Amino acid sequence: MESTLSPELAEHLTSAKARIEVATSLDDLRAIERDFTDKGGVIAGLLAAIPTLPPAERRDAGQGANKLKGAVLELLEAARGGLAQAGIDAAREGRGFDPTLPGTEAPRGSLHPVTLVTRELEDIFSSMGYQILDGPEVELDTYNFERLNIPADHPARDMHDTFWCEVSGAERDSDVGILLRTHTSCVQVRAMEKLQPPFRVVAPGRVFRQETLDASHEHTFHQMEGLVVGEGLTVGHLIGTMKTFLREVFRREIEVRLRPGYFPFVEPGFELDARCPFCETEGAGCSVCKQSGWVELCPCGMVHPRVLTLSGIDPEKYTGFAFGLGLSRLVMLRYQIDDIRHLMGGDARFLSQF
Ligand code: PHE
Repeated sequence: MESTLSPELAEHLTSAKARIEVATSLDDLRAIERDFTDKGGVIAGLLAAIPTLPPAERRDAGQGANKLKGAVLELLEAARGGLAQAGIDAAREGRGFDPTLPGTEAPRGSLHPVTLVTRELEDIFSSMGYQILDGPEVELDTYNFERLNIPADHPARDMHDTFWCEVSGAERDSDVGILLRTHTSCVQVRAMEKLQPPFRVVAPGRVFRQETLDASHEHTFHQMEGLVVGEGLTVGHLIGTMKTFLREVFRREIEVRLRPGYFPFVEPGFELDARCPFCETEGAGCSVCKQSGWVELCPCGMVHPRVLTLSGIDPEKYTGFAFGLGLSRLVMLRYQIDDIRHLMGGDARFLSQF
């Protein structure tokens, strides 16, 4: 680069080099940089002189000044690297290390929105006396279907586009019955197997369905199952629970309504809707609730007596209710995310917003 500089500029570069070579601190380097690049510095002076030159020389003069600036900055950068290395070496050898210098900040991640909402709901349900349970994502047909009153060839199986695990030697993978759980309801069965009533549990987790992907369908999404078993439980307790839960989330009273819904493991089964919490005037309609004033919150119902029996619980003595919160949907509602594919997409630009 020097070779193409005019003698005057080359002289500037040589003097910069001489100063940089003897610099012993970042402050020294900063002072040199200021002398060259600040207002009133060497480069500014060169540029200011351009209009006084004959027109034919101006272009070269401008380019030369910029080249000089680039060359000086490069030397400074290299010198900074050298000082840093010297600092590290000194620290290793235990000399000259200044522990009061601020460190370089490492980039920090953030929690996934699904994690944030899951944790919030776990807190709410724990405060209501619920245990938090976990279950395997690779499940057995028995837990995912059979003991939830969905026997083989039950039409309800069609609603769950199941990923069956390949098993070598099997004629049909579904004959062996190992699958990726299609809902968190299998944890209901595992809870009944393990716990003595009365009990209350919630089970958050990933579920899988073989869906055609679009803005509202993903093959991997999140649910949170709720199950309460005890003596004398009724639909009134179910509604009361959901209203308490909504009051905790939105910090005010939210009206709910039940519509009939069919799920083989509950009887009666419902779809529970909540008054849209996002409408400016309650029930007036907005883009979130598609102008209806209501948002679908979760399917739910009273545990089918057969399901209790299949898990060894006496339906004459105990009743129960269950609900299946769509966590992915709640996350989308909460943060006004319009495409479910963002949740599992892993794009750091999306995730760093939370
Ligand atoms: N597990 C059901 C589903 O994913 C939802 C559900 C849960 C319904 C609990 C009723 C009670 O389709």
